[in-house]
Amino acid sequence: MRLIIVGTGVMAKNQLDHFTRIDGVEVVGAVDSDANRLAAFADKWGIEKRFLSLDEAIAWGDFDAASNVTPDRVHHPTTLALIAAGKHVFCEKPLAENYEKALEMTEAAERAGVINMVNLTYRNVAPLQRARQMVLAGEIGTVKHVEASYLQSWLVSKAWGDWRTESTWLWRLSTGHGSNGVLGDVGIHILDFAAYGAATDIDHVFARLKTFNKAPGGQIGEYMLDANDSFAMSVDFANGALGVIHASRWATGHLNELKLRIYGERGGLEVMHRTGESELRGCVGDDAESAVWKTIEVAPVPTNYERFVEAVATGVQPDPNFRHAANLQKVLDLAMVTERERKESKV
Ligand SMILES: NC(=O)c1ccc[n+]([C@@H]2O[C@H](COP(=O)([O-])OP(=O)(O)OC[C@H]3O[C@@H](n4cnc5c(N)ncnc54)[C@H](O)[C@@H]3O)[C@@H](O)[C@H]2O)c1
Repeated sequence: MRLIIVGTGVMAKNQLDHFTRIDGVEVVGAVDSDANRLAAFADKWGIEKRFLSLDEAIAWGDFDAASNVTPDRVHHPTTLALIAAGKHVFCEKPLAENYEKALEMTEAAERAGVINMVNLTYRNVAPLQRARQMVLAGEIGTVKHVEASYLQSWLVSKAWGDWRTESTWLWRLSTGHGSNGVLGDVGIHILDFAAYGAATDIDHVFARLKTFNKAPGGQIGEYMLDANDSFAMSVDFANGALGVIHASRWATGHLNELKLRIYGERGGLEVMHRTGESELRGCVGDDAESAVWKTIEVAPVPTNYERFVEAVATGVQPDPNFRHAANLQKVLDLAMVTERERKESKV
């Protein structure tokens, strides 16, 4: 597969660590509107073709698929252009800034018949996949209650760089730069983590969002720091279970941690994921009486990157596809409405 990378920032480096290890993948081009970032990236990965705009790359056209790693608000126009050129697209999350745009991208991809996938990275977490299998196999009985959290600390810690000076963080703090804050950024990950693990969909939502003042006048240069930093949400699932889901960028001591607890009528499961470290624990069968939790061994699973490459080779649409991400975007949009109206919404 001849692949191009559109957007050569922080996440693109992470993606290439994966794509370049997959047999049959040739990264043949890179696109970025920032010439310095483009040159540094293409030099590091030995990519010959370099373009300052996607239009130039499409005019050249000698590629099968693109990975779209641009900022959130750029996904919509660039993905539509790639689809119109008949290219398969692996798009970063969130698919778009709102449901309307996400749906337009979904319908365009489906009409064109191109392979479309969204990088909900935590599908790569083997314990999550095993937890879902156990739920589907009825090992904990009907799911009744779900707790999920996504904690980051980059507003407190400089471990990932300084949000006060680096554009990669500043655009994430500004609605004018297309960000829906922590809700849009990692909310989509944790909603997917919770609903996929519990093997049911979210059908009602009520959320509270908070934006804390972080700079004099709430502004740094061109960036108004008005996007939410923390959210807390209650949800109903289609199977009748109740859930609480929350996320924050202020969670000191947690660089990047996802946690999911699923309680069924006969047992409980807990999935924990931190960078480079994941675990599944269960309290099932007789252990429910003594409240003993045991680690459950899990086998590795293929990554989204590997599954996208396979989908392009076989022509079979992978999961999570654009339609799934658009449906999650609908929940995120409604969460923002509930914050304004202070009233639960049906998805
Ligand atoms: N799946 C995950 O776990 C995960 C993790 C981090 C980031 N992301 C997503 O990846 C995307 C990129 O995030 P990032 O942290 O790498 O951002 P970034 O700001 O570091 O990089 C984005 C790059 O896109 C370039 N760009 C902007 N407009 C462009 C255009 N029109 N054409 C070509 N290039 C353009 C920028 O110059 C920049 O180099 C975001 O949508 C983000 O939500 C996903």
